[in-house]
Amino acid sequence: MKIAVVGTGYVGLVTGTCLAETGNDVICVDVNASKVEKMQNGEVPIYEPGLDLLFHRNIEQGRLHFTTDLASAIKEAQIIFMALPTPPGGDGAADLSYILGAAGDISKIITDYKVIVNKSTVPVGTADKVSAVFAQNTNVQVDVVSNPEFLREGVAVDDFMKPDRVVIGTKSERAKKLMSELYGPYVRQGNPILFMDERSSELTKYAANSFLATKITFMNEVANLCELVGADVDAVRRGIGSDERIGKRFLFPGIGYGGSCFPKDVQALVMAANETAYDFQILKSVMEVNERQKTIIVDKMLKYYKNDLQGKHFALWGLAFKPETDDIREAPALYIIKSLVAHGATVTVFDPEAVENVRNVIGDQVTYAENMYDALENADALLIATEWSVFRNPDFDKIDNLLKSKVIFDGRNLYDLQKMIDLGYYYNSVGRKK
Ligand code: UGA
Repeated sequence: MKIAVVGTGYVGLVTGTCLAETGNDVICVDVNASKVEKMQNGEVPIYEPGLDLLFHRNIEQGRLHFTTDLASAIKEAQIIFMALPTPPGGDGAADLSYILGAAGDISKIITDYKVIVNKSTVPVGTADKVSAVFAQNTNVQVDVVSNPEFLREGVAVDDFMKPDRVVIGTKSERAKKLMSELYGPYVRQGNPILFMDERSSELTKYAANSFLATKITFMNEVANLCELVGADVDAVRRGIGSDERIGKRFLFPGIGYGGSCFPKDVQALVMAANETAYDFQILKSVMEVNERQKTIIVDKMLKYYKNDLQGKHFALWGLAFKPETDDIREAPALYIIKSLVAHGATVTVFDPEAVENVRNVIGDQVTYAENMYDALENADALLIATEWSVFRNPDFDKIDNLLKSKVIFDGRNLYDLQKMIDLGYYYNSVGRKK
């Protein structure tokens, strides 16, 4: 099939590349000329494991193209994906100007039937708004479809190629047929393509992310309670996760969820509910608890150091909001750094991928280490904020030699408690005994 993808951000690029992988002819459009030029020259603009291989393969095979010219890109396309930003506007609600703007541009160019797919996370009712833009500008028939993405950063290629489900919001039989054809190769194992109306599809995306954020937050609160009552959250997690109704996944407590999706989507759903005068109480609590959880590690440090962090120096491993990404949006590590610096401490940080992004945001408020062990030199303690694999089995003798004292505050529960006791560390993790 012939596909155009408008917007080559994270979602657009993964979508375009993965659609080319099953033999479609894909052209990606972006207004950023230098980015397009780089992609034309084979440069992948984001860090996403596995994307490189598919990106290069499909460019070489002539199935993946990039352009700044919207008109030529959409001319032949049967399906046009819109993967455009929806940043929170001044009032916190998603700003639709990019999407409605692109819809306006597309509507003025097309001359034959198109399926227009909203891939961005958009408020309920957006498909209707996009349809209205087309109705206003053209007599050409289009079907506007909601097709939310459920990609996780770090495993996005796998999530696209083997989705748990594909959600398609449209009432048009013609669009349903084309979308089934397009997604057929991705659900060969029998995972469902779920057809529904546009509004239900739009809400599904927010409800899914908000539910997952709630699940994590619930576990974070259980973990906090475990510490107070002397229980072990790992045991409790297994104890409840084995019940299929609860499920094992997304029950890992930590220092709060971050990233570009959960915080934004939970907030957007609360706001959307507010607009209908519905008070989405549980999500308001989720937001509040998550804010607190992001700096809970600093509260623990204050307790340990008797409220005095002035002049102390810490090593921090992990800056990205989660492993296998360089994304630092709403990353708990940034909140921790801010709080430590405000308490008069200094920090040396290390992350396998996110250092440059952090440097751009906070500059010389911290010092940057070239490797994980260099970060430890003369530090009073090691803090862990992201569960990168490389941190999972470190050389504890080396750590011991470099740190001033054997103290670790671990926000991601990477190490075995007994092992840490045997090694003689003061090891403070989440929801487990000290
Ligand atoms: C999330 C969803 O998982 C995707 O399905 C969705 O498509 C995406 O948002 C989106 O809306 O675009 P992502 O933000 O990439 O994906 O990251 P997740 O792997 O879901 O992690 C989110 C946060 O939850 C991270 O800060 C992570 O550390 C935290 N988390 C996750 C926990 O604290 N505990 C867990 O058990 C799992």
